Amino acid sequence: MDKEDFRKHGYQFVDWVVDYLDEVDKYPVCSPLKPGEVKNMLPETIPLKGESMDKIFADFKDIVIPGMTHWQHPSWFAYFSAGNSPPSILAEILTAGMGAQCMIWKTSPAAAELEEVVMEWLRKMLSLPEEMTGVIQDTASTASLTALITAREKATDFTSNLKGLKRPLVVYISEEAHSSIEKGVKIAGFGKENIHSVPTDKNFAMIPEKLEKAVLADKKKGLQPSCVVATVGTTSSSAMDPIEPIGKICRYYDIWLHVDAAYAGTAAILPEKKWMIKGAEYMDSFVFNPHKWMLTNFDCSAYFVKDPAALIRTFEIHPEYLKTGVDAQVKNFRDWGIQLGRRFRALKLWFVLRYYGMEGLQNIIREHIRLAGLFKKWVEGHETFELMAPVPLSLVCFRLNDGRSEEALDRLNRDFLDKLNQTGKVLLTQTTLRGKYVLRMAIGSRTTREQHVREAWELMKETAGQLL
Ligand SMILES: Cc1ncc(COP(=O)(O)O)c(C=O)c1O
Repeated sequence: MDKEDFRKHGYQFVDWVVDYLDEVDKYPVCSPLKPGEVKNMLPETIPLKGESMDKIFADFKDIVIPGMTHWQHPSWFAYFSAGNSPPSILAEILTAGMGAQCMIWKTSPAAAELEEVVMEWLRKMLSLPEEMTGVIQDTASTASLTALITAREKATDFTSNLKGLKRPLVVYISEEAHSSIEKGVKIAGFGKENIHSVPTDKNFAMIPEKLEKAVLADKKKGLQPSCVVATVGTTSSSAMDPIEPIGKICRYYDIWLHVDAAYAGTAAILPEKKWMIKGAEYMDSFVFNPHKWMLTNFDCSAYFVKDPAALIRTFEIHPEYLKTGVDAQVKNFRDWGIQLGRRFRALKLWFVLRYYGMEGLQNIIREHIRLAGLFKKWVEGHETFELMAPVPLSLVCFRLNDGRSEEALDRLNRDFLDKLNQTGKVLLTQTTLRGKYVLRMAIGSRTTREQHVREAWELMKETAGQLL
């Protein structure tokens, strides 16, 4: 592609993105396509001769866009949001343009040093302990796996990388922990059977006394407790495991404490939500996702550790071809996680943090929390809607309940969710809480306004009316 064509299409695509985000609410939130429909529209092999960008772009609009689910839609209430924003998108353009692979300091000093600086900004924004140091990982899944592997090393006096595990190490999680922790436990070699699932209280938060009981029982059996993964903001209901009492138990029994705050962590930038991480001084590691609720494009996960030396000792590797003359003076982030090659993720985060500033970000998060509070009030005030969990942040768990049997209620709510989502006007997802089928209204899109939440509520009442 020559320079002028590149420029022409560059402007054209930026125009397209600006208009897309401006009008994204004209699309059905969830793609209505059936499995195989996109594949059927695509040729089976690469074209022999290269094609024009005009043709490729036309196919993007005709084939790809109808097959997309629109995560930036203002009526996106599914899963948790996947943030993006103009400053973040602009940074991604620059990152793609530079095409740098930022595995070590030498391969782009600015990328490494900017990462140090923005992670320190984030640490201060969330009021994490001063001794914690941050590194960007791709996802919370990877960050938690990194924590589990480091905990495994620490629990074995740094011998398991060399010799493998000699005796079972137990990992404690609540019954509400994210599935990525189970996956991490399996990959890290603990063995799924060595997960001890700790019961939760009426708010779906881990019960510290039950944790301690489990630790003592396991020690009695000759098992070695090695890691507790607590969740601040569980996926199903945004429940908050109490970090302080859990941390004291971990400190007493010399167990690694990892805190997964993938979604909720961003809210710790609000003074009124700092209670979520009370006891942060007991954490060995902590992760939250700017790519969820901090307006930063996927992927960007902020991982903090208290003892970087333990992390580096677990992951460092020094082949000749990666050695440089400055290794002793700099941070080589290849040794701070699993992958060698690294994207320049700090740039988009830097753009977002500077563009919005602390107050700008706080205002957006506060507004989402206010909207969730409003929705919660409507649910509580309606005779056939039932609130199913506390609402500490911007996720509301609810269902229809007209008094029929639990089994019939599950069926009713499945139908209710399907009917709502089939309208294409909103997208919500589901979970189960204590075995009950529950709808999740997760507010977190940058473009969601009160009007969208009101419209969703009106649609829910109307849809409920058709089913009851
Ligand atoms: C509590 C929690 N942990 C981990 C994850 C996984 O995040 P990621 O996709 O960044 O791996 C999620 C995703 O929603 C989550 O809610």
